[in-house]
Amino acid sequence: MADQKAILKVGEKELELPIYSGTAGQDVIDVRTLGASGYFTFDPGFMATGSCESEITYIDGNKGVLLHRGYSIEELARDADYIEVCYMLLHGEAPSKEQYEEFKHTITRHTLVHDQVNNFFRGFRRDAHPMAMLCGTVGALSSFYHDDLDISDPEQRLRSAYRLVAKMPTLVAMCYKYNIGQPFVYPRNDLSYAANFLNMMFSVPAEKYQISAAVERAMDRIFILHADHEQNASTSTVRLAGSSGANPYACIAAGVASLWGPAHGGANEACLNMLEEIGSVDRIPEFIAKAKDKNDPFRLMGFGHRVYKNYDPRATVMRESCHEVLKELNVNDPLLDVAMELERIALSDPYFAEKKLFPNVDFYSGIILKAIGIPTNMFTCIFALARTVGWISHWHEMLSQPGQKIGRPRQLYTGHAQRPYTPLKK
Ligand code: SDX
Repeated sequence: MADQKAILKVGEKELELPIYSGTAGQDVIDVRTLGASGYFTFDPGFMATGSCESEITYIDGNKGVLLHRGYSIEELARDADYIEVCYMLLHGEAPSKEQYEEFKHTITRHTLVHDQVNNFFRGFRRDAHPMAMLCGTVGALSSFYHDDLDISDPEQRLRSAYRLVAKMPTLVAMCYKYNIGQPFVYPRNDLSYAANFLNMMFSVPAEKYQISAAVERAMDRIFILHADHEQNASTSTVRLAGSSGANPYACIAAGVASLWGPAHGGANEACLNMLEEIGSVDRIPEFIAKAKDKNDPFRLMGFGHRVYKNYDPRATVMRESCHEVLKELNVNDPLLDVAMELERIALSDPYFAEKKLFPNVDFYSGIILKAIGIPTNMFTCIFALARTVGWISHWHEMLSQPGQKIGRPRQLYTGHAQRPYTPLKK
């Protein structure tokens, strides 16, 4: 119910638009009746547009706050595991011990993909980018499950959500194994979600793979820190695709595609490539100058954020994890020296302070993933793996809301006015 109203004067007309307040964050002005007045709102990039009502995640960009179902990311990263976070994103509350065990059992037993999925990989070049293979194979899951899914049935929606959360690690590991020409490794039900993923990535039939507890914990924490993030580009893509009634597997494939961009989830791969291009601490000033140069399209990958204008709380947790993992693995990575020095210089440079540019979640995740032994071109696949639960939770929430409509934005048309067509004399 609106507790305030905005008055919009257009020409002689005066429009009353309801203002709604949420639990926290900005109030919203409801412009749904504006169309009847002959006007559209205009907000390319959706800098000031609320696209939906959601109870899943809250972000305060100025205070660096990130809550999942009201629980802070700092507490979840410290005291929960990814399976618990998946449960609360999907179901709204933290699980009881029994709910946790049942949910973990269910997810574990959906990790296998149909054996014919293996054949899809044969069509890719060996050097195909893993995200290209992931886009294709996730979408292809639609061909296995499209006929047993009534998306108006919450139970069937949740079953496809469980399948996707369970199968993404298997598909991501298959992309990696296909790239390096090693045999696919089947999931193991005796391992945790993170350990099972690491095993499918790094074990080979010829010998037992020893899973480091520190690496397993770091992997699980990376999954937690990437699980959901409100209405970011890829989540909004999934919502828009889902608003037409598209199959959830196709919607998640759309999310994977959107995440791939270097301005979004592709930033962790782009950040590591940038650190490798910088190469040494003494070259940092040259790249800082490029980042400041208006005529140079270069940007510091892993820096800046549309919403966080002080710091990204995930980056803070990720930074701690980064140092823990490197210490535990006794990794002395010169790229970390470059990263630390780049962070120090950027944070002390008035340009970056004025533009509110600071390390985001992607800045440190790439360094940890590299320390774990994951190749740079796999980083965004890991992000997609972790974000699948966020995407499918938003899809599930959208379809559970009454009066849900297909998303269909309008535009400001600046093309030609109508003009006669002169047929081509062939
Ligand atoms: C993710 O939305 C989400 O929540 C995303 C995400 C999630 O969990 O889903 O958090 C994950 O995508 C994190 C962001 C990862 N991307 C990068 O690290 C790529 C580098 N960052 C930028 O491309 C940029 O900061 C964005 C895309 C993240 C945000 O861009 P905005 O909000 O559209 O801001 P902008 O591009 O208009 O930049 C504002 C100013 C510009 O200068 P002016 O035109 O005002 O003079 O800041 C400058 C930009 O040139 N700027 C940068 C910069 N980012 C912005 N300058 C140098 N280096 C950068 N990284």
